[in-house]
Amino acid sequence: MATQGARIVGFSGNWARPSRTRTLVQSVLDAAARRSLGQTTLFDLVDAGPALLQTMDRAKAEPAVARILHAIETADALVVGSAVHKGSYAGLFKHVFDLFEKQALSGKPVIVTASGNAAAHASVLDYHLRPLFLALDASVATRGLYATADDYESPERLGAAFQPRIERSIDELARFLRGSAQP
Ligand SMILES: Cc1cc2nc3c(=O)[nH]c(=O)nc-3n(C[C@H](O)[C@H](O)[C@H](O)COP(=O)(O)O)c2cc1C
Repeated sequence: MATQGARIVGFSGNWARPSRTRTLVQSVLDAAARRSLGQTTLFDLVDAGPALLQTMDRAKAEPAVARILHAIETADALVVGSAVHKGSYAGLFKHVFDLFEKQALSGKPVIVTASGNAAAHASVLDYHLRPLFLALDASVATRGLYATADDYESPERLGAAFQPRIERSIDELARFLRGSAQP
């Protein structure tokens, strides 16, 4: 796959805006777009709406939910993010991915991100998000990104000092996408 033609989908597990998590995911997508890695689209739980709470079976998902699931499943790469809630990802964020069949994200590169108040809870990347996406057979080929309140100028804007970490993850994603373009 040519990297410039890649569809990179962001999914942020926030149910209110503004959201630090959404800002983090959007910042990664913006960096990918600046590097011409592909077309980017961002969804969050607000886009899914309250119908998500009643979706127990993917086949019966309302259009707003079905659209997001389809976008995630057909993306060439994913950027996902959750706030830390009680030491793990947010429950509704997990619910979205519980709707997929095992191996639904087979081979898809994923950048996992999270925001939280406690620096110690950066462990959510390795102990919760990475295993979740490996269970779906995705390729968590990049290091994750964890941001605390100190990393933001405001909920809508990450501080400039965080940007090199994003660029490093984009370097890794670019390498992965270039690799999958080889014959
Ligand atoms: C219900 C709830 C539980 C939380 N639990 C934790 C936690 O265990 N550890 C942590 O570091 N932050 C915790 N936080 C703080 C959020 O993770 C943090 O403020 C995050 O950046 C909010 O992201 P958002 O603006 O996208 O909602 C919690 C927040 C809420 C609302």
